[in-house]
Amino acid sequence: MKHNEHNDITKVDHNFEPYEPYRPIPLLVIAVVCALGVWGVLTYIGDLTAAEQFVARTAPVAEAPATPAVELAEGLNNASPEILALVHEGRDHVWSCASCHGDAGEGNATTPRLAGQVSDYLFKQLVDFRDGIRDNAHMAYVARGLGEDEMRELADYYAQIRLPSLVGPRLDGNLERGRQLAHEGDWKRNVPACLQCHGASGEGVQPSFPVLAGQQPEYTFAQLALWHADARGNSPQQLMDKIVQAMTPEDMRAVSDYLSTLPLNREPAPQVQ
Ligand code: HEC
Ligand code: HEC
Repeated sequence: MKHNEHNDITKVDHNFEPYEPYRPIPLLVIAVVCALGVWGVLTYIGDLTAAEQFVARTAPVAEAPATPAVELAEGLNNASPEILALVHEGRDHVWSCASCHGDAGEGNATTPRLAGQVSDYLFKQLVDFRDGIRDNAHMAYVARGLGEDEMRELADYYAQIRLPSLVGPRLDGNLERGRQLAHEGDWKRNVPACLQCHGASGEGVQPSFPVLAGQQPEYTFAQLALWHADARGNSPQQLMDKIVQAMTPEDMRAVSDYLSTLPLNREPAPQVQ
């Protein structure tokens, strides 16, 4: 019978090693995995710190919380329930005025403040939006859903709201230059004093000259820019068009910022007949 080689204890393999021999490659793999792990943790911590710094940079500077406009305003209920419903809830495609103009008509950036504005001026703007004489897609849509009686009542409602000015310069304009343009004009450039028409403190004059004091500076600037670009054409006798043609963008910023600093806490605009 042939000897089974495998069972032959006389032929012991002396090179056989029952334990794993030392092998450098798995250790290298372990080292790489560890290094990746450490790198991952460090990156994670780094991200956390970066995120904290980002939060710190974008968090608002500690300021006394601003009192909401509704708490400072007077006259917020002085209208019929139907008009107040248009203001706060809207109807069909008449989106609620408050959704854009704020609960007290305080406005926001390029959406104008309506509170305390001259009533006849507001009414005229609504009619002009409806008729496409003043061009703004949102307001045209809203105004086309309103009857003229409603326009009149909405204008009266916003005009009688008393609300102090809540804004200030935000356009980096030169306030001294703005003051000069508003009160004196610049005759070398053919720019008349704004307050010659808009009231001595920008408080507006019934029926045609709107309040400029305390208006959102972005809105004032945007309107001046529209006239400059021939894109708002509804002012009587093209008064504003001619005035703004002569103004530089820096002057528009300066005067918009300055007008926003004028307080607005006054009795209703005087009725000039
Ligand atoms: C979708 C937002 C939006 C809604 C809703 C809205 N408005 Fe406006 N409104 C604007 C914007 C934006 C302007 C500025 C248009 C421009 O730049 O010419 C404006 C302008 C006006 C103006 C002209 C003011 C001025 O100083 O010349 C009047 C008046 C007005 N809105 C009244 C209303 C009334 C009343 C309602 C509710 C029935 C209403 N708006 C609903 C966004 C809105
Ligand atoms: C000669 C009179 C007159 C002078 C001077 C004048 N304005 Fe006006 N302005 C008007 C009239 C009128 C309107 C109303 C236009 C309309 O009915 O759409 C108006 C409207 C405006 C409006 C629009 C307000 C709003 O709520 O949309 C702004 C902004 C404005 N003027 C800024 C100025 C500035 C800034 C100056 C000075 C550089 C100035 N105005 C000088 C007559 C004048």
